[in-house]
Amino acid sequence: MNILVIGGTNFIGPPVIRHLINMGHEVTVFHRGKTQAELPEQVNHLLGDRRDLNDFKNKFEQLGLEVVLDMFAYTQDDAQKLMKTFKGIAQNVVAISSIDVYRVYDVLWGKESDIIPLPLTEDSPLRSSLYPFREIPYRPLNAPADYEKILVERVVMSDPELPGTIVRLPMVYGVNDPLRRLFPYLQRMKEQRPIIVLEESIAN
Ligand SMILES: NC(=O)c1ccc[n+]([C@@H]2O[C@H](COP(=O)([O-])OP(=O)(O)OC[C@H]3O[C@@H](n4cnc5c(N)ncnc54)[C@H](OP(=O)(O)O)[C@@H]3O)[C@@H](O)[C@H]2O)c1
Repeated sequence: MNILVIGGTNFIGPPVIRHLINMGHEVTVFHRGKTQAELPEQVNHLLGDRRDLNDFKNKFEQLGLEVVLDMFAYTQDDAQKLMKTFKGIAQNVVAISSIDVYRVYDVLWGKESDIIPLPLTEDSPLRSSLYPFREIPYRPLNAPADYEKILVERVVMSDPELPGTIVRLPMVYGVNDPLRRLFPYLQRMKEQRPIIVLEESIAN
């Protein structure tokens, strides 16, 4: 298949792209050129800012796309621009979402107190309040205040002309994780400390 990946050059993107290439797909990556990754040489690069996605419509048309994989839609506006741009150009849009859409995420942070059956399924309840990062001063990965994957999902799944697919990722760790989520634990294990003390907020 002919696939356009929006983003794809930072953390989760590169292994996904390598996998797509190994499966025999043709891949073009659209990003600003601020982050670089070692990607297979047959990957095409198209440089631009997703805020101006519509300006690249002619270029996208020439690619003969089948699928657009959006690795980096954070806001409702991102998703609306995505669907508007690729209507009539691609046959399917896949957007990467997050488990932070689930209500258990707010239970975890003490904002909700429901008992929610586990394991989570696609039908598990979603957060009732929007914009999970709006209140916090330090937003992970410089996410904008209007970061909201629930709205991204709604927009991508509600277009009558362009079918969408959502992939809700769990917390992901691994090589090049910009958040270094496991570092504090691994470092203390490496130092062979007998006890790993957690911050109270994390322990709770
Ligand atoms: N990490 C986790 O635990 C986790 C959990 C759940 C869901 N997710 C989701 O997983 C997805 C992938 O995250 P990732 O960090 O691994 O992404 P990635 O696709 O590896 O990297 C982010 C990409 O977006 C590009 N980009 C950023 N701003 C842009 C803009 N304005 N216009 C065009 N391109 C832009 C960056 O390239 P340039 O800088 O060159 O533009 C880079 O290629 C995200 O949607 C995230 O919400 C992550």
